[in-house]
Amino acid sequence: MNKSSVRDIEVEGKRVLLRVDFNVPLDEMGEITDDSRIQATLPTIKYLIARGARVILCSHLGRPDGKVIEKLRLATVGQRLSQILGQTVTITPDCIGPDVEKAVEELSNGDVLLLENVRFHPEEEGNDASFAQALARLADIYVNDAFGTAHRSHASVVGVANYLPAVAGLLLEREIKTLGGILESPAHPFAALLGGAKVSDKVGMLENIMDKVDSLLIGGGMAATFLKAKSYETGLSLVEADRLDTAVELMEKAARNGVHLLLPVDVVVADSLSTKAEFKMVSIDNIPSDLRVVDIGQLTIGSFSRKLERCKAVFWNGPMGIYEIPQFAEGTQAMARLLANLKATTVIGGGSTAEAVTEMKLADKMTFVSTGGGASLRFLSGKELPGVEVLMDKEV
Ligand code: 3PG
Repeated sequence: MNKSSVRDIEVEGKRVLLRVDFNVPLDEMGEITDDSRIQATLPTIKYLIARGARVILCSHLGRPDGKVIEKLRLATVGQRLSQILGQTVTITPDCIGPDVEKAVEELSNGDVLLLENVRFHPEEEGNDASFAQALARLADIYVNDAFGTAHRSHASVVGVANYLPAVAGLLLEREIKTLGGILESPAHPFAALLGGAKVSDKVGMLENIMDKVDSLLIGGGMAATFLKAKSYETGLSLVEADRLDTAVELMEKAARNGVHLLLPVDVVVADSLSTKAEFKMVSIDNIPSDLRVVDIGQLTIGSFSRKLERCKAVFWNGPMGIYEIPQFAEGTQAMARLLANLKATTVIGGGSTAEAVTEMKLADKMTFVSTGGGASLRFLSGKELPGVEVLMDKEV
């Protein structure tokens, strides 16, 4: 990465505004169901503590839309972080203002402060300059470790970097290096396993990785659009009618580039998206008109597995079916188990794929699990991330 990192600057005694992505999933009781994003930022937090920085953490949680929403306060996150670090994490009642400035003044070297949810202010998403300045006033240095939010042009991600020396955190650096690396110089054979609901969400990435992969395996809801484009009956499955041409173009491009494109050969179809649904496995030329595709079938699991077993590098983004419903999770779980046991570089895109792998307790069996959903999609589409672009270039 050509951006300066926290390793390139002196932080002792400095007030460091550390933007993190603590946007963790919560259950109805407000308990954290997966703390991977907190864990992933620990190397940077510990690095700063060990070097005597005064750490001021800043994050969003959920989409409160510029208003204070009690259940989106960062208190639970602060408590979890405090337990993990084994030291007090002071939480401020807001993210800017005189009380926060006072709390910052009272920090000693190695202390950690967590600012309240930055999205309680509408100015955050509006990338408002005065709001960014108010955040910048709290610190001497800005460090961005929020890879998951780096695709957002918000005040705490982009604006603030105009007023402070701005560098990357260790997680942000690792994400860019790993995701960039698998595209630039993957071991071959290299396969991308893609799923998720919509082709439209993934077109940019599909186009970008098409030149780099040897095989492209497509499952999940988006496979229905590809099957429809090949004139199969897809029943009640979500098909993006305006993306049928895109699907055809992608298949033609794959053929031109010598990329082996695998679609499901059989699928699980159901009458509804519920745990009470009636479902069965059918061949793709036998999808009933009154049912919808909810998972890949056993033959497809077999054909995808045989292909992936021969690969030296695999990138996976998007579940193979509606994995939140246990009856339709088999395809996603089979792929997760397979990748966990591969002797290959395995990189997992963020969002629901990362959630599935973490839920199955297989995350540490993968080479890398990204913390960014939308951010990793944008990055893998070959586009710039605004939160990375604003950081200082590395001195050569
Ligand atoms: C994410 O979960 O992808 C990031 O935290 C960004 O959240 P957002 O989609 O609400 O901007």
